[in-house]
Amino acid sequence: MEYNKKVAEALSYISERVSTTPKAVLVLGSGLGGLADSIKDPIVIPYTEIPHWPLSTAPGHAGRLVFGFLDNVYVAVMQGRMHFYEGYSMKDITFPVRVFGEWGISCYIASNASGGINLAYLPGDMVVLYDHINYMGTNPLIGTVFSEKEERFPDMSYTYDRELLDMAEASARENNLTVRRGVYIAFTGPSYETPAEIRMARTLGADVVGMSTVPETIVAHSMGMRVFAVSCVANYAAGVTSQKLSEEEVIREMEKATGKLTILLKGLLRKIGEE
Ligand code: HPA
Repeated sequence: MEYNKKVAEALSYISERVSTTPKAVLVLGSGLGGLADSIKDPIVIPYTEIPHWPLSTAPGHAGRLVFGFLDNVYVAVMQGRMHFYEGYSMKDITFPVRVFGEWGISCYIASNASGGINLAYLPGDMVVLYDHINYMGTNPLIGTVFSEKEERFPDMSYTYDRELLDMAEASARENNLTVRRGVYIAFTGPSYETPAEIRMARTLGADVVGMSTVPETIVAHSMGMRVFAVSCVANYAAGVTSQKLSEEEVIREMEKATGKLTILLKGLLRKIGEE
């Protein structure tokens, strides 16, 4: 079946169950799924029920869509994302974004876990992204343009929406939270980077490193969605300290950060609701 027919089928399945078009979609990364717990009377759709929807196999990813009000804004929450390293194609991992884009959701809000490359960043720090380096060696827009909403050659000068960035920083100030601004570099994984790769990434201008977010951001931006992304530093990137990296450490650090992240994102959503 053609890709855009699959997108249309998934969308019709979801929109039959959820009558309100959400204003924003939130993607919760490793260990950050807790945010959806603050939605009252949610509509929950497991990924397994949605036609053509790829399944997330990564640890710390629940694999369901949760719809409802977070503060005063109707949102779709993705508890769990798909990664390129799981063996999916770029088209597969960006399938949900295309569904949300076709639905007319205007804001794409992502969170992720990352390694801190910038020597001033500590595990537990929240970093709002103002730019990225796509180091995955491919691009999710390669191939046919699937949607009337999608641009062939999207400008990437302001990929991360400047207004949402300002609103998130204002929300952080109001809640006495510290956030940093940074550049995210995406490697494919699943092996963590080597110390030499991290030194290279630092030289290239990256502050944090991870294995997600960039493909979805490119698609969301190409479809005209406003993108916001926040990264929680889970560990010092390879070689910054003598400690080895582990998935357990990443999940543990992210679970600690859920509270702060929830406050930051709720504050941002409140401001989106007031716009
Ligand atoms: N590298 C890549 N991805 C990550 C890291 C890291 O150090 N920490 C959490 N996700």
